[in-house]
Amino acid sequence: PPGGLMDRFGRRITYLRLSITDRCDFRCTYCMAEEMTFLPHGAVLSLEEALRLVRIFVSLGVTKVRITGGEPLVRRNALWLLQEIGRLQGLKELVLTTNGSQLARHAADLRRAGVSRLNISLDTLRPERFRTITRIGDLAKVLDGVEAALAAGFSRIRLNAVMQQGVNDDELGDLLAYAVARNIDLALIEEMPLGDTGHDRSATFLSSDAARARLAERFELIPTLENSGGPARYWRVGGSDSRVGFISPHSHNFCDTCNRVRISAQGTLYPCLGDDGAIPLLPLLRAHPHDDAPLGAAIATGMGLKAQGHDFTAAMATPKIVRFMSSTGG
Ligand code: GTP
Ligand code: 5AD
Ligand code: SF4
Repeated sequence: PPGGLMDRFGRRITYLRLSITDRCDFRCTYCMAEEMTFLPHGAVLSLEEALRLVRIFVSLGVTKVRITGGEPLVRRNALWLLQEIGRLQGLKELVLTTNGSQLARHAADLRRAGVSRLNISLDTLRPERFRTITRIGDLAKVLDGVEAALAAGFSRIRLNAVMQQGVNDDELGDLLAYAVARNIDLALIEEMPLGDTGHDRSATFLSSDAARARLAERFELIPTLENSGGPARYWRVGGSDSRVGFISPHSHNFCDTCNRVRISAQGTLYPCLGDDGAIPLLPLLRAHPHDDAPLGAAIATGMGLKAQGHDFTAAMATPKIVRFMSSTGG
């Protein structure tokens, strides 16, 4: 389209994050409550509907699509969707964020489907601690998943670790050493207040600057200007091919270069992660099975709704955003 998608602050939107399920085989304390109610199937985008949305966004100038969840690989036939998206003309990058639990089984197929990069969540290398953070997850499966992804030939794999003071802050160096040993990247993430998960986020907050200062005692960190429009700011790790990125929604706001919007598992367009402004697309998909024009119009309205930025810090103790990270996928 002439011009593509742009918001009212002049930011070009070329990146779509699409959550294909709110379900997950983990219950991470920063993401979900212990007891979660999941969406009924009819309230979730079908994979055909998801593909139609991606097609429309690509026709509007989106060149990068990230599939998220919940855990995307617990959705049956997720691979079919990835294969179909992988075939779309005009799309340059198809990427996936996963908790890694099912990667041992799926890594090779994902690569064949055209997924170019993986972000794998991993907050700790200690099995007991992993169980505490994910409530029900099994670390060994994730570590097998990382090896399977490497064996499948993925390059630029990135681990994602949410930092929590008193929980995994003593392990950030070990996580980076694990990444360096495998030639992969690590992103350290400041926790964001989405949904009441029943844990006090302000009590465990750790800033990127504090984490970087600690890592600098053990690694040579070389600043880079690399910025793919994403929230991470990267440092190269001396003597290696790895990078460590910091995602700092609290301490270093990155909203002015934001290039993305997201669609939740229930087919709702959220122009900003930290704002409740939203456009439900599911009713339009179902009311207009053969006419994309109403969807295009709704998406244009959504661009006008995109907030200038978010302020998570004030809301750490009591989240302003009640939806959980698992339904919007970050
Ligand atoms: P790239 O596609 O390479 O930019 O990766 P990413 O870092 O955006 O993706 P990933 O799914 O791995 O998310 C890592 C962290 O970044 C998660 O905690 C997300 O919630 C967070 N994140 C992604 N996009 C945004 C955003 O627009 N705003 C904020 N505040 N956080 C975001
Ligand atoms: N704050 C920051 N990151 C989060 N994630 C999940 N919940 C939160 C939160 N409250 C991360 C996961 C995953 C990514 C998609 O989002 O660890 O890596
Ligand atoms: Fe599942 Fe990822 Fe949320 Fe953990 S952070 S519960 S792995 S969706």
